[in-house]
Amino acid sequence: MSNWKRVLLIITGGIAAYKSLELIRDLQRRKIAVRCILTRAGAEFVTPMALAALSGDKVYQDIFSLTDESEMGHIELSRDADLIVVAPATANIIAKMRAGIADDLASTTLLATGKPVVIAPAMNVRMWEHAATQENIGVLKDRGISLIGPNEGDMACNEFGMGRMAEPSKIVEEITTFFSVRAGDTTPRLGARNGVLSGRRAVVTSGPTHEAVDPVRYLANHSSGRQGHAIAAALASLGAETILVAGPTQQPDPAGVTVKNVQSAVEMMAACQAELPADIVICAAAVADWRVANPPQDKIKKERGKNGNKTSAPPVLQLEENPDILASISTLKTERPALVVGFAAETNSVIEHAKSKRISKGCDWIVANDVSPGTGTFGGDHNTVHVIDGDGVEDWPVMSKEKIGFRLAERIAQYLETFS
Ligand SMILES: Cc1cc2nc3c(=O)[nH]c(=O)nc-3n(C[C@H](O)[C@H](O)[C@H](O)COP(=O)(O)O)c2cc1C
Repeated sequence: MSNWKRVLLIITGGIAAYKSLELIRDLQRRKIAVRCILTRAGAEFVTPMALAALSGDKVYQDIFSLTDESEMGHIELSRDADLIVVAPATANIIAKMRAGIADDLASTTLLATGKPVVIAPAMNVRMWEHAATQENIGVLKDRGISLIGPNEGDMACNEFGMGRMAEPSKIVEEITTFFSVRAGDTTPRLGARNGVLSGRRAVVTSGPTHEAVDPVRYLANHSSGRQGHAIAAALASLGAETILVAGPTQQPDPAGVTVKNVQSAVEMMAACQAELPADIVICAAAVADWRVANPPQDKIKKERGKNGNKTSAPPVLQLEENPDILASISTLKTERPALVVGFAAETNSVIEHAKSKRISKGCDWIVANDVSPGTGTFGGDHNTVHVIDGDGVEDWPVMSKEKIGFRLAERIAQYLETFS
């Protein structure tokens, strides 16, 4: 466990405290160790026994316990963590954090820590909307504390509104993203061979292809490779043996991923075939549909006469079709991957085109995104995608490309757990 990231989870006294059990389990699955602090009110909702059993660690409750202070005092608890997460965060702990009150182990640890803190508020809608809570939240945000949720929805108190704690899956996603992007790159710091995709082999394509016009010129597109690289990073972080077949990009190689660099569609096809069989193939690269037929060995010259006038017309490029990597892998007769996912970059009728692409290529899912000018998808930080499978269309909200990578990897893990 020495290379595991460590979360200090503070569970306060809200009805959503029961969700902390799921949260702990899901974090541990991603090789994130969890140590718990439970407030007195929190212990009314969830037992220290259950938390200890799931976290595999002692649960810390009392600041004045001599044993705790000598073995693991409140300073040590914070020092030992990479991140402090308060979930659920009551209106009370939020107010105490804002005011700097330190009257129990949870609040004292929060006041004494220099570590990053994330809170997942959970409370009745009136408590949430109260001016005091809103003011407290504003101050905490200004101090650099991150918020996950709350969400709008039905409440335990039979009311509806803002104040429901974010779902554990969302909190896990934020925490994993925090660890993967905190170092300033998309490297999965949580990468582990024993995650939910352990034992699975994944091949991901990413980036554009460059199709030679002559030895110095090429045809290309605007793909940055950021989405494909993020998917490879996320699959590796869930334990998949991941091979990234990358066209020419500026993206750093994700850690824990084997990268095969290629230039053209033909090279990308050959590299993918060399990596099969695989359980998962994700074709996220923007592969050129055509290449220049018979590009010359030497640079094409712009011929000029003695007086500088043009002596020849501009060259005509004869194009020929590139191999269809997605279709050829999707229709393999033997050792077809259990899951083949294609990407559809469209500028109009995004869903319709993507639906027909899924059928015509024979792949299992299509991730469709709108790449028309103005969306900022190519090269941007964010993406809005629609995941299309045999059951229909799932519209995902706008998210960072890293988050889309994690969510897709999680969806893949769930699919393989169920169907293969
Ligand atoms: C049944 C019940 C449910 C409660 N749920 C919440 C809640 O969801 N959010 C909240 O802020 N307070 C809730 N409270 C109030 C807190 O438990 C109370 O403010 C307590 O002092 C919080 O202490 P702590 O922040 O130290 O855990 C609830 C109280 C009861 C009795």
